[in-house]
Amino acid sequence: MALPSSFLSELKMRCDITDIVSSYVNLKRRGRNMVGLCPFHSEKTPSFNIYPENGSFFCFGCGVGGDVITFIMKIENLDYIEAVKFLAMRAGLSMPEDSFDDGVSKLKGRILEANREAARFFHAQLMSEAGKTAQEYLVGRALSRQTVVRFGLGYAPANRFALSDYLRKKGFKDEEIVAANLAFKRSSGKGIVDRFSDRVMFPIIDLRGNVIAFGGRILADQKPKYLNTSDTLVFKKSSNLFSLNNAKNTGLRTLILCEGYMDVIALNAAGFQNAVATLGTALTAEQALLMKRYADEVIICYDADEAGQKATAKAIDILRNAGLLIRVLSIPDGKDPDEFIRKNGERGQAAFKNLLESSGDDVEYRLTKLRLNHDIKRADSKANYMKEALKIIASLSSFVEQDIYCSKLAEELGIRKDAVLEDLSRLKATKRRDFDRKEYKKVTNDLVGRDEVLNPQKKDNMRGAKAEEMLISYIFHNPDMLKKASELISATDFVTDFNARFYSYITEKISDGLPPDLNVSQDFTPDEVSRFYSIINSYNSQTATLDAMREYIDTIHIEKSKLTKADIANMSAEEIMQNLKKKPKK
Ligand code: CTP
Ligand code: MN
Repeated sequence: MALPSSFLSELKMRCDITDIVSSYVNLKRRGRNMVGLCPFHSEKTPSFNIYPENGSFFCFGCGVGGDVITFIMKIENLDYIEAVKFLAMRAGLSMPEDSFDDGVSKLKGRILEANREAARFFHAQLMSEAGKTAQEYLVGRALSRQTVVRFGLGYAPANRFALSDYLRKKGFKDEEIVAANLAFKRSSGKGIVDRFSDRVMFPIIDLRGNVIAFGGRILADQKPKYLNTSDTLVFKKSSNLFSLNNAKNTGLRTLILCEGYMDVIALNAAGFQNAVATLGTALTAEQALLMKRYADEVIICYDADEAGQKATAKAIDILRNAGLLIRVLSIPDGKDPDEFIRKNGERGQAAFKNLLESSGDDVEYRLTKLRLNHDIKRADSKANYMKEALKIIASLSSFVEQDIYCSKLAEELGIRKDAVLEDLSRLKATKRRDFDRKEYKKVTNDLVGRDEVLNPQKKDNMRGAKAEEMLISYIFHNPDMLKKASELISATDFVTDFNARFYSYITEKISDGLPPDLNVSQDFTPDEVSRFYSIINSYNSQTATLDAMREYIDTIHIEKSKLTKADIANMSAEEIMQNLKKKPKK
């Protein structure tokens, strides 16, 4: 039960891929296509292509591709139906009457509803008599009522059945409550128990305003201090950030990255609404790309302790890879932003503003750290310091900045600046060579690897598979040639089953008078759709001639008639002899 293709065609017509992608990626025109930095992997030179003519995209760096629906699935983290709904809403189209809601999207919807009810329940509990101690706890942490309401904070009561009972009364099934990770099955096998009890609750809200998870802090000095929702169908810890829903609305394009819920809340209360935090794990590349959508610059504001500083060094690499500008804020005496602001009382806001303004860029931060570990009065240590410092300086993309830091370094070490610059350019040359080599290897390995998984027969017959792909691309771009092609070949003549599937799919569509595009459906996975668009976009066969088409077809026939090792293994001696006789001598 798929969506009607008339509806999908209309949807795609109204949702121009260039328009849609432009609201996520900065695109520049290149010939007939548009290019930009890929939002699905980190890169410095654009390899993400939009093909307005056929409404598709493809990234040559990471191999992701598809149509406008696949794009929304990936970037908004939605399943197929959700992405179609998302686009339909944007285009002002209503969904077809009996469009199917598969089991998974239904369950996702139920989890979100259960989470919303749970957030209401926790909040009401906090405001009630039962939440007295929790309220006092929050007052003790200097949170105003306004802040509590703004973040929708709550309290999970000590009774370990309270939430489950409440949700059941609201019509939720045990399985739904467990799928939301709000409760788990009792070890006895009978009934369920709440996951959170006697904790202050922090709802985690996504960019569309859904409550997707919770963090819960214990009131006393016990462990674990925080308990978070595990990953569910609607929540992936590694790709969400706490309070990004608030931070994205400031329009500042600068984010303050903290370690904890309480840091973000304290900063918000002090007027810094652009604060976000990871959810109890180290920063991931996914989170960095997410930030990149709303910010050009990130100010890292981790705890002043050793763990916080280690995490800072790691975060710098990840953010830099995502192409973000970075500053590092160091908190003087004190542990984290929350404590710093509280300690400064009335002056908290002004004092933090001061820190923000005096925070240096990440290079300064890294050089200072490096300097602390080297005794530059000793020659060997001095040389080593210079080598490591140059590595840091070489990572800067601005030549002006590189020059400034080289001057500083020369002065600090009492060396001629020419010599420093000379060493720097030598280091950069080596780095570039290594990088190119690695990058080339990675890209080719990745592309070949992905191809092999999808089309395992390809590696045994490259020539045949390539000709098939070129034919598919040709027919896709020249559907009027299908009749001619059909006289010469059909999908059953193909060497690889995988390409045969694509070919019969598009020929069927064209014969029915429909556009020969591929949709993710029960027939094709997102990876297969990516592969399809990479095929139709990576050959010049779209502008090929009829003769070229004949050549593709001949090649496929020739390759098909060759025997594979597997064929021979399955043949009797007689059959092998017959085949040998059949083969024309060269
Ligand atoms: N965290 C977690 N699980 C723990 C400890 C910490 O998930 N057992 C996460 C939480 O998101 C927390 C963040 O790591 O907010 C930072 O931890 P920590 O610095 O220990 O907590 P604070 O934010 O300082 O918390 P508080 O001020 O409430 O003590
Ligand atoms: Mn703290």
